Amino acid sequence: MCISSIMAIVDGELGSAVAMQTALRIGKTFDAHTALVHVLPPLAVCIPLCCDVEGQENVDLLQNKSITLQERQRERFELLYQDTVVKEGIPSIEDTDQPKMLQFSATKLMVTGHENQEVATRGRLFDIIVMPPASELPGGAKNATLEAALMDIRELNNPLPRWWLWILYACIAWSLGYYVAYPAIPLVSSYTKGVLGYSSRAEVAKDVAAAKEAQKESLDKLDAASLEEIRTDPELLEFALAGGKSAYNVNCSQCHGSGAQGFVGYPNLNDDEWIWGGSLDAIYTTITHGIRNNQSDDARISDMPAFLKDEILEKEQVNQVVEYVLSLSGASTDAAAATAGTEIFAENCAACHGEAGEGIADLGAPALNNAIWLYGGSKETLVETISYSRAGVMPAWGQILDDATVKKLTVYVHSLGGGQ
Ligand code: HEC
Ligand code: HEC
Repeated sequence: MCISSIMAIVDGELGSAVAMQTALRIGKTFDAHTALVHVLPPLAVCIPLCCDVEGQENVDLLQNKSITLQERQRERFELLYQDTVVKEGIPSIEDTDQPKMLQFSATKLMVTGHENQEVATRGRLFDIIVMPPASELPGGAKNATLEAALMDIRELNNPLPRWWLWILYACIAWSLGYYVAYPAIPLVSSYTKGVLGYSSRAEVAKDVAAAKEAQKESLDKLDAASLEEIRTDPELLEFALAGGKSAYNVNCSQCHGSGAQGFVGYPNLNDDEWIWGGSLDAIYTTITHGIRNNQSDDARISDMPAFLKDEILEKEQVNQVVEYVLSLSGASTDAAAATAGTEIFAENCAACHGEAGEGIADLGAPALNNAIWLYGGSKETLVETISYSRAGVMPAWGQILDDATVKKLTVYVHSLGGGQ
């Protein structure tokens, strides 16, 4: 905004060129350093603008005019604003003893004592013309009046105050110095580098290197420590949890939720319900190799058959086993069907989900007896799950992140609530 005000105010190519270059460079590399050197000088120019120097001078000029108007009260006047007549008239005889004042404030031009009417808003102002009565003008017609008035237009183009100009010149000099010292002018495929050799990328690289250096000791310790050692060493644990939390937010939250609360198909990692096991080692393996992906040969794989689609069970049998599964968490509404499902479950499901539906972590088969559902526990959802199966997939993070990060993630996930 400031920059465009400068461009609007500074008449002439140099001014706009400087403002535009400044805008370009701000867009290119914006950091605290840039803010200090590119934003402050334009701000210094903007502040005087906000003080409305030009407006004040217009006020002075117009206040002189108001005296003229009082002196020649009975005469016709026209008030011109950007080539347009905004007010014309002859002050009426009744209020001749009241002063007719034209006042200009920073934002409004008012004729007071007449109709209290706002006649112009801020902008480039033109002179007020106090005209002789229309009858005295050649032709006496409206057009002639206007023509005569226009011929008398004088633009109030006040010189800028000295101190304002000096600030502007200082800014220009400053930015010229900048062109030489710092990266500045965009070229076709690169940019002028500046004699100081500054580059915001190099600065970032330096910061990253410094941060790594500062963490080096803890990272080395983390690399050498076992998961259990990390968990029991308060200092190392704190370091791992902080790193794990930020790695979680970047890599995991999109599937498991920003609070690890999970979504349908993506397990909640806060509770102590584990599909693949909640010990440090189990979690580490799950994260490192992922689940049902083709990235890692050691990915966790366990495929529940699609019982209806693969024609292992009839529709009726699926319904019965669903009622049985519901009965495990006390939600069945059809006792007869649930009883009929008991045997189907024992034959087809218990091998993976356990005799009592308690789940078997080694097979990634979730518990079915606790009303905690990955895909949902309504009858329709269960029919869908059992008929077609689901097969959720998770990437092998060991191939995406380094081992230290996977360790941090493991400790972090383990700490969320349900670590075993
Ligand atoms: C693309 C989606 C996706 C992303 C990203 C993802 N996961 Fe998963 N994750 C899954 C799915 C799906 C499952 C459940 C798979 C199944 O059915 O067994 C899962 C399961 C898990 C499990 C096993 C939970 C249990 O109960 O045994 C852990 C632990 C886990 N994820 C941790 C992570 C971590 C840590 C990250 C980030 C590095 C992550 N996940 C990123 C999709 C994702
Ligand atoms: C080969 C092992 C295996 C067999 C056999 C098996 N399941 Fe599964 N079941 C799984 C696995 C693994 C999952 C996790 C599914 C996933 O994420 O894709 C699962 C998931 C489920 C779910 C979803 C749980 C939830 O929280 O949403 C239900 C319900 C279920 N099984 C019921 C059954 C029933 C009923 C049978 C027998 C008819 C059965 N399963 C047979 C392995 C098996």
